[in-house]
Amino acid sequence: MADVLYVNGGTPLSGSVRVRGAKNFVSKAMVAALLGESPSVLRNVPQIRDVGVVTGLLELHGVRVDADAEAGTLVLDPTDVESAHVADIDAHAGSSRIPILFCGPLLHRLGEAFIPDLGGCRIGDRPIDYHLEILRQFGAVVDKREQGIHIRAPRRLQGTRISLPYPSVGATEQLLLTAVRAEGITELRNAAIEPEIMDLIAVLQKMGAIISVDTDRVIRIEGVDRLEGFNHTALSDRIEAASWASAALATGGDVLVEGATQPEMMTFLNTFRKVGGEFEVRDDGIRFYHPGGDLRSIVLETDVHPGFMTDWQQPLVVALTQATGLSIVHETVYENRFGFTEALRGMGATIQVYKECLGGGECRFGQRNFHHSAVISGPTPLAAADIEVPDLRGGFSHLIAALAAKGTSTVRGIGLIDRGYEHFGDKLLALGADVSRD
Ligand code: EPU
Repeated sequence: MADVLYVNGGTPLSGSVRVRGAKNFVSKAMVAALLGESPSVLRNVPQIRDVGVVTGLLELHGVRVDADAEAGTLVLDPTDVESAHVADIDAHAGSSRIPILFCGPLLHRLGEAFIPDLGGCRIGDRPIDYHLEILRQFGAVVDKREQGIHIRAPRRLQGTRISLPYPSVGATEQLLLTAVRAEGITELRNAAIEPEIMDLIAVLQKMGAIISVDTDRVIRIEGVDRLEGFNHTALSDRIEAASWASAALATGGDVLVEGATQPEMMTFLNTFRKVGGEFEVRDDGIRFYHPGGDLRSIVLETDVHPGFMTDWQQPLVVALTQATGLSIVHETVYENRFGFTEALRGMGATIQVYKECLGGGECRFGQRNFHHSAVISGPTPLAAADIEVPDLRGGFSHLIAALAAKGTSTVRGIGLIDRGYEHFGDKLLALGADVSRD
């Protein structure tokens, strides 16, 4: 598919779009199917490239995947799970970080797993040290080789007690997917408790797992000998929903995001309102709109759930370029998530990035040479530009800037946006945007 989008901006987005299952849940639920002794059914699955990547990885490991893409249904049959060739995994994984989550299930089923070099968005180093340490603590042997990392389980994995240095989403998922079939009890402290993780726990419980989520980020898992398949409808994508909300605000528009749900978006909704956006929670979704008048500057800090998600930050920063006064955004989840602001500056935004922790408490990136705070001064009109998409969320933010800017922008590398935004070109057209893909 062509990789360039021409955006003739300056028109408020208006109309409705539908969001389906969360990218950051669906891919993990697909991996969980590997743990079952019978087929699983996953519903509300979006047509995004990451789903295609995980489908391919599962197929390489002998899982039969039947998809009804329109209906958004996947049937995953893990009856004939087998080892895959290292080179095939590597070639297929592309920029996805999902292969690391195959480790626990594969160790239980086959006694070994292989992880190629891991990709993902260019938003910092994104190490996997927590993941490897977790696997070691369960009794796996980790062997770093030239082509990647080979992991094996000399005997059945054993439940353990682990405390994460930081409530990492991926590491918490790694632990869950491994502990459910390990022998004995596992206790995780400082766990991530994002809604996508709660939905993964719901899936595992349907499969037969015993998991309790206690107060203060403690999760306890009692290992079981056998899990069955699951039948589950994915929670909706709150990152995509917030992206459309920010697009509505930045363009002065009015967008009904069908499928968006309030409980998972409470923190975003509070911030959206503080900036001067309005919303209406309906049975079929949430309508986000610019009520007229000036937008207000804010001080914002990203954080793990229930804080303001790092993935909401980039789209909202574009809207903040249209707010009156100085906004301060402190990014505390990733050390390097302001690279996308360079293109915004080129379009006329006034944004400065700083190494200091601004606008909030000290975070683990303070005094460490990371440009992880941004000061945005607005409002500034945005001008059309020729932009290259840097990563998934940064790319969507560039798209929002192009939609808000007067004139025709050329946005290159939009294939990256297909990783996580289902049919975004069609959705833009449905919202009245003047865009064409080349
Ligand atoms: N970290 C480590 N060591 C590890 C793992 C993580 O130091 O072994 C650090 C990371 O470098 C980062 C922090 O911990 O600074 C948080 O990372 P986390 O593990 O929570 O992130 P992730 O699981 O790799 C998922 C989403 C991201 C989302 C984050 C935070 C998926 C596939 N990705 O990443 O989504 O930003 O959680 O909510 O679920 C996106 O959708 O565009 C995206 C980047």
